[in-house]
Amino acid sequence: MDNRPIGIFDSGLGGLTAVKALRELLPEEDIVYFADSGRVPYGARPVEQLRRMAVQDMDFVANHGAKAIIAACGTVSSNAPDLLAGYRLPVFGVLRPGVEAMSRVPGSAPLGVIATAASIRSGAFQRSLEERCPGREIISAACPDFVPLIESGHSGAEDEAVCEAVARYMRPLKERGCAAVLLGCTHFGIIGEAISAYMGARVRLISASACAAEKLRDYLAASGLTGGHGREKYYTSGSAGDFSRLAATFLGRELEAAAEETGVMEC
Ligand code: DGL
Repeated sequence: MDNRPIGIFDSGLGGLTAVKALRELLPEEDIVYFADSGRVPYGARPVEQLRRMAVQDMDFVANHGAKAIIAACGTVSSNAPDLLAGYRLPVFGVLRPGVEAMSRVPGSAPLGVIATAASIRSGAFQRSLEERCPGREIISAACPDFVPLIESGHSGAEDEAVCEAVARYMRPLKERGCAAVLLGCTHFGIIGEAISAYMGARVRLISASACAAEKLRDYLAASGLTGGHGREKYYTSGSAGDFSRLAATFLGRELEAAAEETGVMEC
């Protein structure tokens, strides 16, 4: 039994897809969440900067008492896997759990992966999928417009700007008949309905966030580290008002308390 919180971080709203999944799996756990909204989007940043930010983000939630961490950011998970693996606390990235889930998709049709520009540029998703899914064609696409749209409050399946961007990025994956698409950026689950509506109900969308939350649940159970009171504390390096409002919309409930502003770290 361990009542310390689970630390979750992302560049902004995306990690809330991990919060949502975790809440369903482990409602009693406490969560400390860091949204680095002052530096979003991570996907447009160079790798060395991303690696420094990864350590700052892990340190932030570790210094707020976390017992384990979800790096709920595909960009960090794919550009700094060694830093996550070598950290002083157990850290669960979203790359490996997502790829493992994709390897269980039956059939021989191609598999798709969508993520930020920095994630796709790292080649980590493509490489890991090729290793874990031998014989399957992997089609990857960077979708740099999704995160700024989501962070500015666009999300619904009827939202015109979202639908236009989804069609623009997803067309090649649809035309090639992908059996499943890995949402390799945690933000993309927020526009999951629009992506699913465009791709069609037969194409499975796999949330890398949800897969990471399952891994963490298994780890806590196996190590006897579950425990907490279902509390949540949010921090953001951006505007507390904007984050709290958009977070409540996505989670479908008000935050227990508005997010606290941290100021922007230098990197
Ligand atoms: N949500 C993050 C990811 O999973 C970062 C997106 C961004 O800030 O570009 O990649």
